[in-house]
Amino acid sequence: MTTASPDSISCQVPELAVIVPTYNEAGSVEELARRVAITLEGVDWELIFVDDDSPDGTAERARELSRRDARIRVIQRVGRRGLSSACIEGMLATSAPYLAVMDGDLQHDETLLPRMLAAIKDEDLEIVVGSRYVAGGGVGDWSARRHSMSKVATRIGQRLIRVELQDPMSGFFMVRASVIHACVRRLTGVGFKILLDIFSTAERPLRFRELPFTFRQRHAGSSKLDNAVLWEYLLMLTQKMIGPLIPVRFIAFSVIGGLGVFVHMAVLWPMLQWLGSGAFLLSQSAATLVAMTSNFFLNNLLTYRDMRLRGRQLLWGWLSFVVTCSVGALANVGIANYLFHEGHSGWFLSALAGILVGAVWNYAVTAVYTWKRPQTK
Ligand code: GDD
Ligand code: MN
Repeated sequence: MTTASPDSISCQVPELAVIVPTYNEAGSVEELARRVAITLEGVDWELIFVDDDSPDGTAERARELSRRDARIRVIQRVGRRGLSSACIEGMLATSAPYLAVMDGDLQHDETLLPRMLAAIKDEDLEIVVGSRYVAGGGVGDWSARRHSMSKVATRIGQRLIRVELQDPMSGFFMVRASVIHACVRRLTGVGFKILLDIFSTAERPLRFRELPFTFRQRHAGSSKLDNAVLWEYLLMLTQKMIGPLIPVRFIAFSVIGGLGVFVHMAVLWPMLQWLGSGAFLLSQSAATLVAMTSNFFLNNLLTYRDMRLRGRQLLWGWLSFVVTCSVGALANVGIANYLFHEGHSGWFLSALAGILVGAVWNYAVTAVYTWKRPQTK
């Protein structure tokens, strides 16, 4: 039996890892792996699918591929969702010095990979971006609506990173692993825009270049980008601006809580008009319940979009939300009252302290009991 020499061991370390986040891409993974193998002929590569436990069995399909070709690997995350965080996890799961991130539906042109690799090495770049908006690139047949939405998001993105990057929204790029290792703890990992996250987190401007490609038609399955992705984008930008200390979900939760005050008044006022002030207790109770309910649904739709409750879980979620917020309201009133009477704080500060304690309580408890884990559906 011969033992492997150090040299033969070192050449088994891939030079390039291609990270592919997937959610319900069972119909595309095989074709993607086939094309990657062809286009990266002569390169030491590995292909890492990061799947969020897709109900269509993408992870198992990818594992089948990996049984035939050990260069293909699978990370299956259970109870987690999110494109950016999946990419980060994949990038940390390899020892390759170059990392490419690419969609799993074949919309990104894999034949660009060898040119990206050559550019990043030969031109001593830190990151190479597959770009739809430099000469020679394109978006194929997008609807006018998607086109203009992409334009607006791109402008905002360019503002954030203050870099002359034509396509900061691209999800197709190749980066040196050292760049990721240096900034990974400060990435938000929120939403879809991992490239923007990297550029805005890096301490100094990255040496980059954009290579054109044409965004192709989806191979199979359907897009996971819907309208609420815009909201996730805003969350990511906000998180970037307020820093890591305050969780962005708390901000969203508080904004929705503030809206609840308007809902409350919109119910209370007409009820008092109809029933008279003798029915204040009834009206106030009804308004509170309606406001809590609308807050619950808004949070379910926006703040916890990635963990959205559906069907029967909605009922239990609503119930735990109402119970939690009722306790929060008691704490709010109790503390404000104490500060006002015993602590001799002014009415404004007393009220503010009560509201803050109530909000933190509501947020912390519902984060644990109401929205527990991502829903897979
Ligand atoms: N693991 C994981 N978890 N993967 C996900 C998730 C998730 O929650 N959501 C989406 N993906 C995967 C999809 O399976 C696909 O491989 C890739 O991420 C992109 O998702 P699509 O649903 O195909 O998005 P798209 O084609 O509309 O958007 C793409 O184009 C944008 C440019 O307009 C994405 O690549 C964006 O990153 C890109 O910016
Ligand atoms: Mn796609």
